[in-house]
Amino acid sequence: MQHNILIVDDEESIRWVLGTSLEKSGYKVDYGENGAQALDKASSKDYSLILLDINMPDLDGFEVLTQLKNSDIESPIVLITAQNTVSNAIESIQMGAYDYIAKPFDLEAVGRVAKKAIESYKSAKKIKENKFSDESISLSEIVGSSGEMLDIYKTIGRVADKDITVLITGESGTGKELITKAIHYNSLRKNNKIVSVNISAIPKELIESELFGHEKGAFTGAVSFKKGRFEEANGGTLNIDEIGEMSVDLQSKLLRVLEEKKIYRLGSENPVEVDVRIIASTNRKLEEEVEKKNFREDLFYRLNAITVNLPPLRERKDDITKLIDHFTNKYSDELNLEKKIFSDEAKQMLVDHNWPGNVRELENVVKKVMVLSPDRIISKKILTEEINFNQNKNEARELSEIDKIISDQIEKLLEDADYDSKDIYNMVINRFERHLIEILLKKTNGNKKKTAEILGINRNTLSKKIKELEIKSG
Ligand SMILES: Nc1ncnc2c1ncn2[C@@H]1O[C@H](COP(=O)(O)OP(=O)(O)OP(=O)(O)O)[C@@H](O)[C@H]1O
Ligand SMILES: [Mg+2]
Repeated sequence: MQHNILIVDDEESIRWVLGTSLEKSGYKVDYGENGAQALDKASSKDYSLILLDINMPDLDGFEVLTQLKNSDIESPIVLITAQNTVSNAIESIQMGAYDYIAKPFDLEAVGRVAKKAIESYKSAKKIKENKFSDESISLSEIVGSSGEMLDIYKTIGRVADKDITVLITGESGTGKELITKAIHYNSLRKNNKIVSVNISAIPKELIESELFGHEKGAFTGAVSFKKGRFEEANGGTLNIDEIGEMSVDLQSKLLRVLEEKKIYRLGSENPVEVDVRIIASTNRKLEEEVEKKNFREDLFYRLNAITVNLPPLRERKDDITKLIDHFTNKYSDELNLEKKIFSDEAKQMLVDHNWPGNVRELENVVKKVMVLSPDRIISKKILTEEINFNQNKNEARELSEIDKIISDQIEKLLEDADYDSKDIYNMVINRFERHLIEILLKKTNGNKKKTAEILGINRNTLSKKIKELEIKSG
């Protein structure tokens, strides 16, 4: 295969010297005379290398480099510098250039750098493509033969090759991503891309441009044009993960895109047609979110034409032993470990556990004890330690979730607070105190003695507080 190289320099003699030499080495060469041409050409062809002069009028090489790095273009870039600007060259590598060459150059050295850059580009591309095909998934890799899982396989079979939107729900770690891939790789779109975008992982203000892309200058920081995930997934599947986290405003825009099959990049009035199949997933109960007005009803109905609801692992305990076998096989292959066996007691313990983190948690526990266990037979003891460790982690996480709720509520209280009163401390504490006392009075059926005891305060203090805080005490 002949590789394309783009040479960008404002001096014609330099373009000529470099071009002739590289053509002699068998490369195909295109030329740009300035930064604007560089950007234009780089986005129109897949160059295996771009040679870019730093010193150019208007857009200089650094600016071009920054813009190329911010766009989808992955071609390696080698900067051409005057000899006295080696510090520039260091900076350019830090900015993502592959290498630099200094003028006046030794053509042999240029040839070597070009070859190295092209090789590394080729292998990076290969890794990406391979990784992609490794990810393809067949139904046989999904473990589980409980009734619910069998229904899910049937649904996948029925809908995979139709272009219907699918909504996948289920607690964290139940296999939503796995099912998403299974649908894609069993669909007519399997030879095209599956692109995933996780709404909860992107800062709110960037989600729209991530999905729909943007034109250069659409907002501060939009230094170059960028394709959105919709365009990237064109012809294939777009997985919108954690869709329950999307703002209502953006939900309206998404609905319009689904209806019109067109997107508008930020900063552009021109529609771009997209042919994308949507698989949305969430660990929220979207019906409840609709009721709370956090999720648009029309979008919900549009998405849930087909819903796959993945049951939590604790509700399909029969699958646990099969999953254990699956993961022990998987990790003895992947980690090159001796195949280990769980003792009956240990197995029973795994079956009895309630797995708040579902299949992912089970997978992690199996993997970890396989590595940790010195013996071929995995004992209950080593497993207990691992499960307890996980449990503590979960409890800590739940606690921090409560803290987050409390801190959110305090912030809300502060929004309406009168800062001039200089009494914020009492205002906030009283609010909490009142609820605490009310809740306990209710629990004790209005028994003040018992409430005071539980709270660990004096009965008179409680009565005083009930009066002060105007609590109805029965
Ligand atoms: N039925 C299954 N058979 C085999 N492996 C499974 C199964 N379900 C889940 N897994 C494995 O468990 C792990 C977690 O699954 P996955 O990432 O699909 O969960 P998820 O529902 O998307 O979780 P989250 O909501 O946290 O994103 C993965 O490594 C996946 O391969
Ligand atoms: Mg997931």
